[in-house]
Amino acid sequence: NTGKLWGGRFAGGPSPELDALSRSTHFDWRLTPYDLAGSAAHARALHTAGLLTDGDHAELQRGLSALGERFAAGDLHPDPSDEDVHGALERLLLAEVGPDVGGRLRAGRSRNDQVATLFKAFLRDHGRTISALVLDLVDAIAEQADALGDAVMPGRTHLQHAQPVLVAHHLMAHAWPLLRDVARLADWDARVAAESPYGSGALAGSTLGLDPEQVAADLGFNGSVANSIDGTAARDFVAEFAFVTAMIGVDVSRLAEEVILWTTREFDFATLHDSWSTGSSIMPQKKNPDIAELARGKSGRLIGNLSGLLATLKGLPLAYNRDLQEDKEPVFDSVDTLEVLLPAFTGMVATLTFNTARMAELAPQGFSLATDIAEWLVREGVPFRIAHEVAGACVRVCEERGIELHELSDADFLAISEHLTPGVRDVLSVEGSVAARTGRGGTAPARVREQLAELRGSVTEH
Ligand code: ARG
Repeated sequence: NTGKLWGGRFAGGPSPELDALSRSTHFDWRLTPYDLAGSAAHARALHTAGLLTDGDHAELQRGLSALGERFAAGDLHPDPSDEDVHGALERLLLAEVGPDVGGRLRAGRSRNDQVATLFKAFLRDHGRTISALVLDLVDAIAEQADALGDAVMPGRTHLQHAQPVLVAHHLMAHAWPLLRDVARLADWDARVAAESPYGSGALAGSTLGLDPEQVAADLGFNGSVANSIDGTAARDFVAEFAFVTAMIGVDVSRLAEEVILWTTREFDFATLHDSWSTGSSIMPQKKNPDIAELARGKSGRLIGNLSGLLATLKGLPLAYNRDLQEDKEPVFDSVDTLEVLLPAFTGMVATLTFNTARMAELAPQGFSLATDIAEWLVREGVPFRIAHEVAGACVRVCEERGIELHELSDADFLAISEHLTPGVRDVLSVEGSVAARTGRGGTAPARVREQLAELRGSVTEH
């Protein structure tokens, strides 16, 4: 016997090179608590099916708990001879309860249904952790939006001044996608929860009368897979998780980029808190947005993890293939990346201070009230095509003279168009402009306050 899980038909052990290639304990060891929980549920199913005596079952449960306690104490380790977490834990269980009792556990299951199930259980736990961290970030954004009240800023399209908006409105535009990511994780979880792969065996199902539904319920799943081949071979649950984590990375990086811009001398819209920014080893004056930059950078690796995984899955024939062992490292990395990134990012956002005077000063600049002139003309009965033309002419005159729209005189306005009576001045203020955008989802202060309440309501629903 080679000491492997599959030694029986082999005359000699694997080459050291194969061992080195095959070994996965350095990354799958973190699945230990899930593997032990799966084994405990499987032992109960064997017991229910009459395949384990009460005594043997009790002894197996004791042994599994003992391993769990040693793992929690940091006192359980794989051996270099172990191929993966499943093999290592079997070896350790045999040492704990003896080969006769320990050797009964493997009946009716395969590492193929085991790994698919416990990887799901692992990801479900981390999905919940990541959701909570994303909600913390949404909370921080909501707090900032609340504190900013009716403060205004230049709203941009193409990074050019477009129309004034409330800063709170702009900030909350980053919160909604994050809430959708949380909803995506909840949708994903419901799909994953419905299908425990345990009981699929290697691919064809189990012959021993074990009840997959019992094991599923035991492990917190709502049901078991309808097809054992699908249960052992499919990894769309991993890819979907990798997508949502990549999307979170992308959504966070969009806000990160704005923080990086806002904290430049040229923008000067916001200042980072000392504890959430870094200095330079050579330039004493520097205050760098490292958290935001790391968020922007790490979104790249989250995307890479998703692309790499999809490439691994593409074209795999049914059922289990060893390629599938490559499903774990990318997603472990995505989990680790977000779990370290999000708390730092949230702290940075929560402690950001806004230069509202500067933002208000810039809000009307760059002719951002030109649309308001056009829409005022429409309300005066002028067709929009002409109104657009007239407002554009106002901008051209201002550009020639190096002034802003509100600096045009009544005579200037009338010279541009007979429709531009002095009443147009009413809309030539940032306050007037934002107050006019009263439709649902618009930037009018009353609407933005409603939006904040709606956002906070959605947070508490999750
Ligand atoms: N460690 C493997 C994985 O992560 C599970 C083992 C299945 N191996 C096998 N030869 N059937 O996918």
